[in-house]
Amino acid sequence: MKDKDRILILGIESSCDETAASILENDKVLANVIAGQDIHQNYGGVVPELASRAHQQNIVPVVHEALTRAKVNKNDLDAVAFTAGPGLLGALLVGTSFAKGLALGLDIPLLNVNHMQAHVLAHFIRNSAADELPALPMLCLTVSGGHTQLLIVRSPLEFELIGQTTDDAAGEAFDKAAKVMGLPYPGGPLIDKLASQGDENMFRFPVSSLPGLDFSFSGLKTSLLYFLRDHLKKDPQFLEKYKADIAASFQKAIIDALLSKLIQASEETGIKCIAIAGGVSANSGLRNRLQEVSKKRNWELHVPAFEYCTDNAAMIGIAGYYLFKAKRFAPKDISASARMPL
Ligand code: KG4
Ligand code: ZN
Repeated sequence: MKDKDRILILGIESSCDETAASILENDKVLANVIAGQDIHQNYGGVVPELASRAHQQNIVPVVHEALTRAKVNKNDLDAVAFTAGPGLLGALLVGTSFAKGLALGLDIPLLNVNHMQAHVLAHFIRNSAADELPALPMLCLTVSGGHTQLLIVRSPLEFELIGQTTDDAAGEAFDKAAKVMGLPYPGGPLIDKLASQGDENMFRFPVSSLPGLDFSFSGLKTSLLYFLRDHLKKDPQFLEKYKADIAASFQKAIIDALLSKLIQASEETGIKCIAIAGGVSANSGLRNRLQEVSKKRNWELHVPAFEYCTDNAAMIGIAGYYLFKAKRFAPKDISASARMPL
């Protein structure tokens, strides 16, 4: 295969409840299409079987829409990148099978992407010539619905995991708290919104601190549960009266825990190029506090654009671009995996 200046990659994401497709020209996004799945709201969480079926329904129209918006003919694609894991197996298999079939039909390479690496690589998208690449090594805090990871990014293909959650992920903690407070799924964005109207110092929720750079969030959820149970016994209107203050105080506890480990990691490694990634990186409280800490500590801070925080296929496309350049193509017998180490 000849090296080309203009590489066109189709990215496909189907690891959870978003069916997404992107077209990238090198590291620039030409189209980024996402179809959400409202059906899960009725169940208070993602129902795997329903997610797989919705992916099956959405995938062809979503890919078609991405090609149309990018004004790219499928015959001009150079490769197909897809999420191979981690995620819901049935959901992943829809994207994997589609990507394999398309790459085989077009006789172009297939690129298997690790979803968690892709969240980080969203920082390597350059939509304009003015966009600078992050300085490496970079320290990244990836906070999503299923993972909380602290990692050193040595290159777009080299990652070192230095800390992670031992139980619930940060996004999961947000979602579980929202559920306890009677809010629909996914609760993270709703807590974020409520928190902006509340007093974060009104209540105190303890976060267990683990040694080293690991996180634990399951105790936080339990403390909220007991807190509400005790207060509601005395005042049935308690939750309604203090919803925004509870959301703000709970959010502060998560942010404090995340930031204290991020600061510790920066001090221990000496790395001052800092990034956040994943769905929870859309949280306005986290983004604001990080700006403050960053200024004080002289960090080079990278916060993703909102469209690249939660699951999307642009991040799969950029990860595919770097794999393509390194000629790290997927083997023909590639399959998806629900669990996949970083
Ligand atoms: O990265 P992501 O889209 O999917 C996974 O890979 O898991 O992350 C989804 C998570 C959900 O838990 C959702 O509640 C959380 O990100 N999230 C937020 C916000 N937006 C999404 N959490 C807090 N504040 C937000 N603004
Ligand atoms: Zn994700």
